[in-house]
Amino acid sequence: EKAGFDHFMLKEIYEQPKAYRDTMGARLNDTGNRVVLPELTMTEEDIRSIRNVHIVACGTAYHAGLVGKSVIEKLARIPVETDVASEYRYRAPIITKDTLVIVVSQSGETADTLAALREAQRCGARVLAITNVVGSSVAREANDVITTWAGPEIAVASTKAYTSQLIAFYLLGLYMAQVLGTVEDAVVSETITAMQALPEQVEAILEQAEVLKGIAEAVSTHDNLFFIGRGLDYAVAVEGSLKLKEISYIHSEAYAAGELKHGTLALIEEGIPVIALATQEELFEKTVSNIKEVKARGAHVIGVVNDGDVELAKSVDSTFAIPKTLALLTPALAVVPLQLLSYYASLARGNDVDKPRNLAKSVTVE
Ligand code: M6R
Repeated sequence: EKAGFDHFMLKEIYEQPKAYRDTMGARLNDTGNRVVLPELTMTEEDIRSIRNVHIVACGTAYHAGLVGKSVIEKLARIPVETDVASEYRYRAPIITKDTLVIVVSQSGETADTLAALREAQRCGARVLAITNVVGSSVAREANDVITTWAGPEIAVASTKAYTSQLIAFYLLGLYMAQVLGTVEDAVVSETITAMQALPEQVEAILEQAEVLKGIAEAVSTHDNLFFIGRGLDYAVAVEGSLKLKEISYIHSEAYAAGELKHGTLALIEEGIPVIALATQEELFEKTVSNIKEVKARGAHVIGVVNDGDVELAKSVDSTFAIPKTLALLTPALAVVPLQLLSYYASLARGNDVDKPRNLAKSVTVE
């Protein structure tokens, strides 16, 4: 059932190109220049009445929501807040009938996420669920569902569910933008074209798995490390850090690169690995100066960059290049090397990759 792979996690990492294709599938029109979401009961009128969006989820699904926030704000120009489900209900969130609450859950059974959904509906909001399990509690109770067609995810560490959630957010963001007229048609079709190239680009990353294995083995001897990045790279850094902690048990922290000076730099000492994501062109120079700050304090920096970005190689210890895509879509590529890095670090440490200690695949208690 592992189809020749040593672990479910590795199998699921390699299933991502298919998961991307299946999740996009019938949601693009025949000419491939518009998004169609026939499953939505929400009308165009309903979309026009949305004043704010709350994205609520746990763990990795929450991290997909961080990307979702940028996507919806950028494309649909609606203000978005993203909350961890276990916090959401207790902070008396301002939910009205003009709030769209998006819950994200691979399993559709996470207790806190389900409770947030119910609270949102109690306040009169419409709830849209992004979930991987058809017929799950979340899918049944939500007003609308966008299913991620990633197929069953067995490994505790979420991989293909996360990336399919990103695809769902890109589709939703584009769809809302089409309805609201917030981006030009040319931008919609350019984004769709770039999305269609993602599966092959992921395949190109997977072909370099050996490189990441080498990096992971070096990293696995350390007890602490950092992930840094700005903007969408920060959202990916947070997910990369969780993945690493969850299965390798190496302590790591993700920091918005510009925040280092406000405390964290004190922890940078000789030899500490820092994984620096620098894929966002607009923020590139700023990130490079943060990389120099940690380098100057002896960090061993591994850069994740766009293909062709040779400049950065001079200021870091090693680089891993991902294929070029639109800035908004880079999380769907940049996370893949981090998943492989975690996998190989866990393996190098002799851990049970698919069943990390103390954790369950689906958290049905609050
Ligand atoms: O099934 P869900 O997406 O609701 O699960 C949420 C989290 O428990 C889950 O993403 C968890 O953080 C993963 N094990 C991380 O890899």
